[in-house]
Formats: sequence, C-alpha cells, structure tokens
Amino acid sequence: MVDQLEKIKGELEQANILTGEELEEFRIRYLSKKQGRITELLKLIPTIEPADRKAFGQQVNVLKTIAEGMVGEARTRLESTQRSSDVPSDLTLPGSAFDTGTLHVITETRNEIVNIFERYGFTVADGPELEDDWHNFTALNFPPEHPARDMQDTVFIEPPGDQHDGILMRTHTSPVQVRVLKEQKPPVRVIVPGRVYRNESISYKSYCLFHQVEGLYLDEGVSMADLKHLLHMFSRTIFGDDVVMRFRPSFFPFTEPSAEVDIWWKDDSHPEGGRWLEILGSGMVDPNVLDALDIDSEKYTGYAFGMGIERIAMLKHGIPDIRLLYENDLRFLSQF
Ligand code: DAH
Repeated sequence: MVDQLEKIKGELEQANILTGEELEEFRIRYLSKKQGRITELLKLIPTIEPADRKAFGQQVNVLKTIAEGMVGEARTRLESTQRSSDVPSDLTLPGSAFDTGTLHVITETRNEIVNIFERYGFTVADGPELEDDWHNFTALNFPPEHPARDMQDTVFIEPPGDQHDGILMRTHTSPVQVRVLKEQKPPVRVIVPGRVYRNESISYKSYCLFHQVEGLYLDEGVSMADLKHLLHMFSRTIFGDDVVMRFRPSFFPFTEPSAEVDIWWKDDSHPEGGRWLEILGSGMVDPNVLDALDIDSEKYTGYAFGMGIERIAMLKHGIPDIRLLYENDLRFLSQF
C-alpha cells in the first residue's frame, strides 16, 4: 500500500499536462470517482489497521490535493492559451473603441457659466438645498402671506413650528445671497451654482427640480447699467455674438427695479419663426434686504441675478424639452 503511495507520488512529479486530452486522461486516471487511483486508495482507508489508518489517510489526502491542484492549474493555463490564440493574426487592425463617460450636459453648462463669471472677478459660494423659510423668503423681503410666495410653488419639509419658521427645499439660489451677506461685508462679488426645487406642473420648459446660478455684486456705486452690461456680455459669450436678447421689466420682492432676460429661440417650425425663452431674473438689490442685514443701503448698492442652467443648455444645444435632461437615456446623453 505504501508502495502504491510512493509510486503515484513519483508519477505526479513526472506528469506534464500539455493538452486538453491529456488533462482529461490525468483526471480520470487519478481522480475519477469510479476508477481513479487516488480515489481507490481513499476507499481503502477504512480497511487499514487502526494504528496506521491516520497516517495513511493523511498521505492519500496530500496526494489528492496535489492532483487536484495540477488539474486546476492546467485548466487555467490551457484556457488562457486558448484565449490568446483567439487574437486576430492581423495586429494592425484598428481596435474596438471603449465608450468613455462624459460630463452631463447640465454640469458642462454650469462649468461654462461659472468660467465666464470667474473672468469678471466673481468667486463661487455655496449654500444648503434644505433651507428655512426665513432665508428662502422672509429675509428676501417676502412678507408672510405675501402673494409673491405663490410665484414659487414650494416643497415644504416641515410646516412652521415653535422651533423654526418652516423647513423647505429651497425654491431658488437667492437665499445664498443672504447667507453670504451675513458672513461677508461689501464689496461682495459672488456666484452660486446649485440645485433648486419647485412643486410645479411639469412641462417642456419646467421641471420639479432644476439648477440655477445666482449672482450678487454689492459695492459703492454699482448701477443698473453695470448689470445690463454684464448680462449682455454674458449672453454674447455663451450663445454667440448673434444672440437676440431682450431685457424686460419684471417684479421680484428682493430687487427694485427688476428685470428678466429672454433669449430668442429660433425655430423654423414655429409659426412666428421662434419664441422667447426666459433665462433669468435680475435687478438692483432692494434696500430692505440690505437694511435687514445691517448693511448701509445709503452707501452700498448692488445688483443680483438668478439664471436657469437647464434653459441655457436647451437654447445652446437646441434641446426641445427639459425632461430629456433628467431621463438619463444614453442615446440622448451621448450626443454631448
Ligand atoms: N430667484 C429668482 C427666481 O428663482 C430669480 C432672481 C430674480 C434672482 C432676481 C435674483 C434676482 O438674484 O435679483 O425666480
């Protein structure tokens, strides 16, 4: 019996498995359930004298482990050589292209907008998406019960209570103006890119969440003409010199006077050859906002604006429906 063990051990040391057939022969010879030579020895273990049984059993198991290891190693080796022989013999053929990811068109547009304003000396500020009623409305001169609050359908998280005056998803990036002015005294020149939420009906140009870039410039002697100039330069940079824009009077509680900017969206299929799309609200910061933050509104004036990133992306790329930006359909996304 011990002879058998030695013999098999010697054979395993000599064995050299080179092909699939040799591998199969090896496996059957030593390990098959019915006639494998190592399997036969395993079956003999119960018949061995009790005194020798343990040592014998151990040796047979060592052989089994070695043989199984050889089968595993040969199988991996043969599979990998087979794979490498699948390589086309003409190595000069062009390879297959990998699909690499790209930035989402909203991110790309955001970065472009931020770059433009950085060139004008604006720095980037940030604020929370979960906001309180005071920052989102009250501090921006929306008195309680004021109808202007309805201009922005709000997603409330908690109604006003003893601890706070209401928690909500911010409806615009304008509350960050307040947060910045609490920390920083003029001169202040910041932009705030960020996500905002509205509980409003969804259409081709409005979605329940979207992105804005807020801007605020507060210093001595800042005028509406400065604002108009900046927004003209901005539109020409982002849309091209032939952009058609209009500056239209409007109303916001936190600016006086206020204006909106529309861009002409050329569309030959439209009866009038296109339509106006509003991209931003703006105006001169209302003195009430400054006074509430203890900033001298006699000394300092400023302008502010808030623009919709999605609308700008739609105009730039001719995207007809804002919802496409949120569906994550690769056939759409891979066009950018
Ligand atoms: N926050 C306004 C909105 O979302 C847009 C806006 C208007 C922002 C005037 C401003 C501003 O900073 O001055 O509708």
